[in-house]
Amino acid sequence: MCGIVGYIGNLDSKEILLKGLEKLEYRGYDSAGIAVMNDNGVQVFKEKGRIADLRSIVDEDVMANTGIGHTRWATHGVPSTVNAHPHQSNSGRFTLVHNGVIENYDILKREYLQGVALQSDTDTEIIVQLIDLFVSEGLSTEEAFRKTLTLLKGSYAIALLDAENNETIFVAKNKSPLLVGLGETFNVVASDAMAMLQVTDQYVELMDKEIVIVTKDAVQIQTLNGEAISRDPYTAELDASDIEKGTYPHYMLKEIDEQPLVMRKIIQKYQNDQDELTIDQEIVDAMNDADRIYIIAAGTSYHAGLVGKQFIEKIAKIPVEVHISSEFGYNMPLLSEKPLFIFISQSGETADSRAVLVNIKEMGHKALTITNVPGSTLSREADYTLLLHAGPEIAVASTKAYTAQIAVLSILAEVTAKSRGLELDFNLVQELGIVANAMEVLCDAKEEFEDIARKFLSTTRNAFFIGRGIDFYVGLEGALKLKEISYIQAEGFAGGELKHGTIALIENGTPIIALATQESVNLSIRGNVKEVVARGANPCIISMKGLETEEDSFIIPEVNELLTPLISVIPLQLISYFAALHRECDVDKPRNLAKSVTVE
Ligand code: AGP
Repeated sequence: MCGIVGYIGNLDSKEILLKGLEKLEYRGYDSAGIAVMNDNGVQVFKEKGRIADLRSIVDEDVMANTGIGHTRWATHGVPSTVNAHPHQSNSGRFTLVHNGVIENYDILKREYLQGVALQSDTDTEIIVQLIDLFVSEGLSTEEAFRKTLTLLKGSYAIALLDAENNETIFVAKNKSPLLVGLGETFNVVASDAMAMLQVTDQYVELMDKEIVIVTKDAVQIQTLNGEAISRDPYTAELDASDIEKGTYPHYMLKEIDEQPLVMRKIIQKYQNDQDELTIDQEIVDAMNDADRIYIIAAGTSYHAGLVGKQFIEKIAKIPVEVHISSEFGYNMPLLSEKPLFIFISQSGETADSRAVLVNIKEMGHKALTITNVPGSTLSREADYTLLLHAGPEIAVASTKAYTAQIAVLSILAEVTAKSRGLELDFNLVQELGIVANAMEVLCDAKEEFEDIARKFLSTTRNAFFIGRGIDFYVGLEGALKLKEISYIQAEGFAGGELKHGTIALIENGTPIIALATQESVNLSIRGNVKEVVARGANPCIISMKGLETEEDSFIIPEVNELLTPLISVIPLQLISYFAALHRECDVDKPRNLAKSVTVE
């Protein structure tokens, strides 16, 4: 959550910072600000709302070669101009942006800052006031920065300006993501390489508890104790067009449409020269060494994990538990003797999942991360990584990452099964190819999904998704998609569970979206539909070819039954998209949300 940028070089920094923030807006968008520094000192512009609102108040006449910027997802203090970053110390000398949460800010306030009139309700302001305090007591800026960092508990990515030194940006990181980007006559700072791809594709990763002194000609990475660290840069393999909307009205629609391509890319990336699916032998060994697998994830990734459990248990015959990461710490199950943990995370930065990773690593267990972002925190800190190869996912509502996660989990299950000598009655490469073609058919049927959204969801306040078996898990994802972008209260239920309570909510016209893609439960789910229809519900049945009846609203092409989540979710993504559009919601940036949830 929250995105930060910084630029120091020969060019005017304003536009670079604003463009960078636009690329980071997916990380939070309730307020934003920039601070630019020249020989006359530091000027701060900040505003509640989106980057476009910030842009409208930035004074175009101010020229400055150094600056920092921030787009916020509020944790401490309401979204407002006062609480927006950058924050300044009361003397005006220090200006700072921060992503993360300072857990002990209240203690630090009482211990060190009695008598300092704070301007905002944020935890962040404490940091900048402490630095100012320590400098007023005689420390240099760098010493004060270090001393302050040693006092902080929690997570931070920080960029700091000192009005008395306009040739340096002071940077630090702990738990929150931060990169330094390198240029010939400039250097930059960014939460995500995407933000500064406009000026460089060369980046240096920062590790926790490192600080960096950034000037236009040099980047000095150090430990908190001042020991120099040398680290080679890497090339960010992002294509600028990957992060643009192109002709699409929304990233979400673009990302839905990219799913067939992503399927084909995954097949290609995981195939060897003999056209067999393959993954690193050490991952296969770790799977085979495990007596039980624990999948840990949040939100959409959790829903993908539920489907993955089916694959791993049915194909590779290893027992699997799936856990919501934010709950795992409190409700840790009795672990098996040889557990293997699989973290599923599009961003690779989800703080709830990372907290579990840190915990289980301390316990000495092995971890595999399945992520879309190479070099992300969860990837770096796990023993093994499998990449999604889905390309950047920018819309807050996850779509292509979900199907990519499921595809990679199917490959993991298949390769593991083969290594155990288990016979499979299908060829996964062929089946995933069929899935990719079916996805194309569905993406071409947008008008039908728009009609369904209009017919079933244009005025409703709530909606229910039902399914049995694997369809139930897809229903959970459909409900999450609908609620997060259209604000319709939507819930997913197992068909058989309805009459144990939820059916009391059915009224005349309540939309019920039922999935019927599994032959073994087709009659049962249709029985559940009859039960709700008898109570006035408005049913929208999405079935699979071969199982259809005349009452169905849409029939998806036939694919391998186990792989149906890869395609049955697409109607749900598109119906949610059009429902949100009809309601004039901000599809890509729904209220109260952020793409990368980096606070616990
Ligand atoms: C889904 O549309 C959401 N954006 C959200 O549930 C997301 O899947 C969750 O926050 C987990 O994110 P991650 O995959 O990056 O860990």
